[in-house]
Amino acid sequence: MVSIRPYTHEDISALMELTELEDWGFSEIDCRATLMVDPEGLLVAQDAVGKPVGFIGCFNMAPDIVYVNLFIVQTNMRGKGIGRKLWNAMLDTAGHKIVVLDSISEMKEWYKKQGLVFEEFTVKCYEGKITNVETNIYVDSSYICVPLTKKHLPALLAYDQKIYPYSREKVLRAWYFGSDKYSFIALYNKTIVGYASCHMKSENVCFIRALYADNDIIADKLLVKLLSHVPKATMLSFVILDDKPLPKYFADFVNTGTEVRLLTKEMPGIQTDKMIMNTAHTI
Ligand SMILES: CC(C)(COP(=O)(O)OP(=O)(O)OC[C@H]1O[C@@H](n2cnc3c(N)ncnc32)[C@H](O)[C@@H]1OP(=O)(O)O)[C@@H](O)C(=O)NCCC(=O)NCCS
Repeated sequence: MVSIRPYTHEDISALMELTELEDWGFSEIDCRATLMVDPEGLLVAQDAVGKPVGFIGCFNMAPDIVYVNLFIVQTNMRGKGIGRKLWNAMLDTAGHKIVVLDSISEMKEWYKKQGLVFEEFTVKCYEGKITNVETNIYVDSSYICVPLTKKHLPALLAYDQKIYPYSREKVLRAWYFGSDKYSFIALYNKTIVGYASCHMKSENVCFIRALYADNDIIADKLLVKLLSHVPKATMLSFVILDDKPLPKYFADFVNTGTEVRLLTKEMPGIQTDKMIMNTAHTI
């Protein structure tokens, strides 16, 4: 007796509970940002009394692209066809658009069977506690890091377009602006050469949501800037592209998994050389 309906704000506690049980790096800030990008992009599987038992995201995050950042069914309801029902509803909503998701290793073959046969890049997931970060090491650097503000949006968009072959204006606005995020840009001669962002899920849990940079020095400087805003002993998590070295601050962090970006159609490629850390919540 499960049916599919659109998400409403009352569903947030059920969604947070399910993602928490699965130990996903997903916060209410991520949830709000996703819905800001596409308020109609979340579908709910409900039981006979309207209680949510599963969710699937089909977010219109970029022109002609639907991103499935959430696909989850309540533990004791799995294996009964609810996931399939959600998946089919997502496909109906997506229509002819390209479907994109970041797959955990376990699900990769299943998604491939569903037609997501193109692989874009692989990331590794890490988590751990920050202990010692020297935050005053770049006094004489020629790159400066400043907080991201609204006035930087056009320049940030221009920088982002060097990496992504489609406009991410909605994503950038939703994820990196606002008083609940720490976001910085790196400048060289007043030109953006990198950006980074993180947010606190709770008092002692932090997610890095972006680290893009033209070179290693800029990346390191942006990281130091981010970490200087994160309280000591915070549990920090991030995903890093698998061809990038793990920054020295995270040497004792634990690798919690691998995810691969899958697509239903080939797209002009993302320039991953500047992409270091990304999130499995945006495309
Ligand atoms: C993935 C998930 C949403 C599927 O929901 P479900 O209600 O159990 O799915 P269904 O019973 O409708 O089965 C749908 C299909 O998914 C497949 N499937 C379910 N769980 C799977 C798993 N862990 N690994 C591989 N395939 C899986 C089933 O074999 C079935 O395949 P078929 O339709 O070709 O026969 C559910 O298992 C879940 O919440 N898992 C934890 C969260 C998660 O890992 N999400 C995916 C992140 S990329």
